[in-house]
Formats: sequence, structure tokens, C-alpha cells
Amino acid sequence: MTILVAVRGWKPDHWIRALREAAPDRRVVLPGDEFDPATIRYALVWKPEPGYLKTFPNLEAIFSLGAGVDHLTTDPDLPDLPVVRIVDPDLTGRMTEWVVLNVLLHHRRHAHYAAAQAAASWKPLRQWAAGAVRVGIMGLGELGRDAARALLALGFKVNGWSRTERRMDGVECFRGAQGLAPFLVRTDILVSLLPLTAETENLIDRAVIDALAKDGPLGGPVILNAGRGRSLVERDLLDALKDGRLKGASLDVFATEPLPPESLLWNAPNLFMTPHVAAESDPVALSRYVIGEIVAYEAGQPLRHLVDRGKGY
Ligand SMILES: NC(=O)c1ccc[n+]([C@@H]2O[C@H](COP(=O)([O-])OP(=O)(O)OC[C@H]3O[C@@H](n4cnc5c(N)ncnc54)[C@H](OP(=O)(O)O)[C@@H]3O)[C@@H](O)[C@H]2O)c1
Repeated sequence: MTILVAVRGWKPDHWIRALREAAPDRRVVLPGDEFDPATIRYALVWKPEPGYLKTFPNLEAIFSLGAGVDHLTTDPDLPDLPVVRIVDPDLTGRMTEWVVLNVLLHHRRHAHYAAAQAAASWKPLRQWAAGAVRVGIMGLGELGRDAARALLALGFKVNGWSRTERRMDGVECFRGAQGLAPFLVRTDILVSLLPLTAETENLIDRAVIDALAKDGPLGGPVILNAGRGRSLVERDLLDALKDGRLKGASLDVFATEPLPPESLLWNAPNLFMTPHVAAESDPVALSRYVIGEIVAYEAGQPLRHLVDRGKGY
């Protein structure tokens, strides 16, 4: 009943320590350790090598150690086993902090005040109320709904867009291709919390940018992306920031990560960037979550938050 932890690009020590603390009676191993592959029953993974997971004949479930699962669904040899994703208040709360912070940075004109401070210049601007600004959230899933609640509490008008029909108090909801244009035209600040799938790849392009509201109080639309970098056409975002069709943007995720030093995004006007840290996976919180799910599963309960391979999320 061994647990395998395979995290590429992350330091495994914190995960091993946190898992051993959460489940002292279980054996936890890393890919380089000596163990019999037949003893592995659960794999906790982040960006495992393609084909690696099919080498464990008795594997029962795969846990993605993040909310996104595109790092798994792109593996052509992924075994036909349940894939569980993280739905945990620790991770969700972190993303909501990032969304609220970045909505407020644009709403409260932080780029202007930071530049004014650097120039020792006292330059107050008119400030509108939150209720005058419409935030449109693409992806009304676990993360999108929590961010929507926080923004509503601050007084913003909130719209949401999803693949299937969603309902939420205080949020005007749109869905599917036919709902996209009416959603965009009511959006001053667009927030993408979409998973990366065949349908969402390159979705936010010039046409989407140009369909956003132009009559809002910010003087132009703003885009925030903390879903996945490849959902956004970076060239189109850059052009729109440069020629003023976009007033500003915040990006946490990029088509190529780490963002290459030669990327033009580094110097784009009115762009706030963070290096894919909006909602980090915390080893202590998420080890407790995964072990809790394993214990419930072994007690006969069904695994929760399973990825639908057909949908890709
Ligand atoms: N930057 C970071 O640090 C970080 C951390 C964690 C996660 N993420 C990203 O955040 C994403 C969302 O996480 P989550 O837990 O909220 O996922 P989720 O609960 O699965 O929600 C996904 C939402 O996106 C919608 N959606 C999917 N495909 C769509 C399409 N083609 N058109 C319209 N809507 C579509 C879904 O619609 P339905 O409601 O109709 O299904 C759902 O509302 C993850 O997949 C990951 O990429 C980023």
C-alpha cells in the first residue's frame, strides 16, 4: 500500500515530510527510491514524465497535486484509472487573493500611483465605486465561484461564463459559444480561470479582446489570466496593450514557463506579472487533503473530484 510522489520541477522533500506526517503508517516513495513497482497503489503527481504512470501494474488512483490537470491529460499513455484533482480551501483561497488583488490593482489605478511615487509626484485621480465596474469571470468552477463571491462582497458587478449552465446568486451567468459575445460586451475586467483544453486553447485572442466592453469607467478593458497561459494569444494581448485597446492586464500563467528573458511581455505597458504563483499547492494542506480522500476511499466511499477525460478537466 505504498504511495508514490512524482513531482517534476518541485522540491519533493516538503511533500515527503508532509505526507509522512499526515499518514505515518504508510510508505511514501520517490521515483529514484528502491521499491517494487507492484506495491504502488496511489500516485501523487505533478507533471510526471509521459508514460511513467503506466509502469505501475497495481495503481488504483492518480492524484494531481494541483487544480489543473493538463499536465496529465496530454500524456498519451496515461493509464485508464481515476484521476482526482485538488479541490481544497487552501488552494482556492490563494487564487481568490490573487484575483482580488489584481482586480483592485487596476480598479484603484495602481500603475499610475506607483509611477507617481517613483517620480515623487502627488497626482490624485478620480476614483469610481466598485459597483461601477463589471468583472467577467471565464470559468465558474471551484476557483471562479469563490473569486466571484469575494468580488461581490467588495461591491463589484460580476458576470460569469461557463461551458454548461451555472447559476449563482448575484452573478449574471452565460454559457457556451452563444453566450460568449453577450458576456464579453458586459465585461470591463475579464478574469480567466479556465482549464486548458482543446476548446480553451488560444480562446482569448484579438476577437475576444475587441468584443470586451469599451464604455466602462476604467477607460478601456482589462484582462487577468490565472488559468493557463495557452488559453491566451500573447501576441494579441501585447498588441492591444501597446495600441491602447486594452487598458491593462495581469498574468500569472504563460504559454512558455518560465517566461523566456527575451519575451516582449516583460516590458509591456500596464502589465502586472507573477511567475505562476497565484495558487501554489501547499504540501501540508494538500497532503492532508489527499490522505483524507484515500482514507475515505478505502472505507468504501467513492473518489471525489474526478477528472472527466472526455471534457479534459
Ligand atoms: N495559476 C495558478 O496558480 C493556478 C492554480 C490552480 C489552478 N489553476 C487553473 O485554474 C483552472 C480552473 O480550476 P478550477 O478548480 O476552478 O476548475 P473547475 O472547477 O473544473 O472549473 C472549470 C470551469 O471552466 C469552465 N470551462 C471549461 N471549459 C470551458 C469552455 N470550453 N467554455 C466555457 N467554460 C469552460 C467549466 O465550465 P462548466 O462549469 O460548465 O464545467 C468550469 O466552470 C485549472 O484548470 C488550472 O488551469 C491555476
